[in-house]
Order: sequence, then C-alpha cells, then structure tokens
Amino acid sequence: MTQDELKDAVAAAAIDEIAPHLERDTILGIGTGSTANRFIDRLARLRDDFMGAVASSEASAERLRGHGIEVFELNSVGTVPYYIDGADEVNAHLHMIKGGGAALTREKIVAACAERFICIADASKRVERLGDFPLPVEVIPMARSYVARELVKLGADPVYREGVITDNGNRILDCFEFMIDDPVAMEARINAIVGVVTNGLFAARGADVLLLGSDTGVERLTP
Ligand code: A5P
Repeated sequence: MTQDELKDAVAAAAIDEIAPHLERDTILGIGTGSTANRFIDRLARLRDDFMGAVASSEASAERLRGHGIEVFELNSVGTVPYYIDGADEVNAHLHMIKGGGAALTREKIVAACAERFICIADASKRVERLGDFPLPVEVIPMARSYVARELVKLGADPVYREGVITDNGNRILDCFEFMIDDPVAMEARINAIVGVVTNGLFAARGADVLLLGSDTGVERLTP
C-alpha cells in the first residue's frame, strides 16, 4: 500500500473507533496534517450524528467548515471526549513528536482538554527512540536567538524554520541531531526555557490509543 492509502486506512479505523460513541451534543477535538485531513473528510459523512469540532489549526477549521461541520472555540467547550491527530514520530509508550505542520501549540492545548487522544499514523512514523524527526519548538519571535542558544546547550542543533509564522504569531525552531532518551523530562526542560511557547514532544500527555497502518492492516496499540 502507498503511504496515502495507509493514511486513509487509519483515518477509517479512527472513524470506526469513535462512531459508536457519537451523540448529538458531542464536540470532537481535531488535529492537523495530511492524516488528520483524511479523518476530517471521512468525518463529514457523519456530520448529522454529532454537534461539531474544536480545531487545532486554522487550516483544519477551514476544512471542517468546508464540510459543513461547525467549529467551536475551545474556551466555550471545556473538554472534548476525543482528540484525533497524526504524529511525526511515535514510540512504544505513545509519546510523540508533533509539529511538522507548525500547529504544535494548539494541538497540545486541545489534546490537554481531551479525555482520549487517538493517534493515527502510518507505520513509517513508529520509532524506537524519538529524535530522527527534527523536534519543533515554538518561540516568541524576540526570544528566537536566546532560545536557540539554550537549545544548543541541551545538545540540539536548532534551525530557524524560515518563512513560517504559526497561527499564534510565533516562530519555529527545528532541533536537528537531537535523539531523546527521556521524552517526559526533555519536554519539561525545553518548556522551561524563557521564550518557549511549547515544544513538539507530546510525552507528559501522550496518546491513549495508536492506530498504526501497515501493509498487514491497522494495528490498535495502547501504552
Ligand atoms: C502538525 O503540526 C503535526 O503535528 C501533524 O500532526 C504531524 O506533522 C503529522 O502530519 P501528517 O499526518 O501530515 O504526517
């Protein structure tokens, strides 16, 4: 199967996972990226079965609205029963690196408000140790150089993602050459640097379920 077909397969599996639990007042948390987009497109077929969604990016909000799915502000919703999103890397503990699409901060906020995080990914995203994918760090623009110097002290090789401004008006530093042995500790350590908004390690709050697509089918994994 192609990678696109695998993304379709895990999107379909996520629909199967949540469909029996949808109620007329259900508001879902929706992620960002090409896998999440496939989920959104399939979710559209169920749009009369639930109330709407909270989106983790302007791009996903636009796609949801395009399908006639109402998009709610997180502050007016409180919690969501499910957050469904892709990942750039995921390990056996269902810790992830996310933010390849620069939506990491809103993704982390919606995930924090979710009762269950369902990660949907093709098998290429599954790793033993996080870090081959450059770890994104969202920074306040004026702190960019300072944060970069602090990241170097932690052993990373941060590279400014030129031309990218996040939905929150901030900048992204991508940490190359940065293999991560203790994702929970490193997530907290990077977040403690002044000027960091958040980083793309989703470890303190990892996924609850991983739907992993490969040529042999979709595997359902838990931490
Ligand atoms: C967006 O900022 C990311 O966290 C995405 O969820 C992640 O990059 C996965 O994207 P794909 O589904 O496009 O691989």
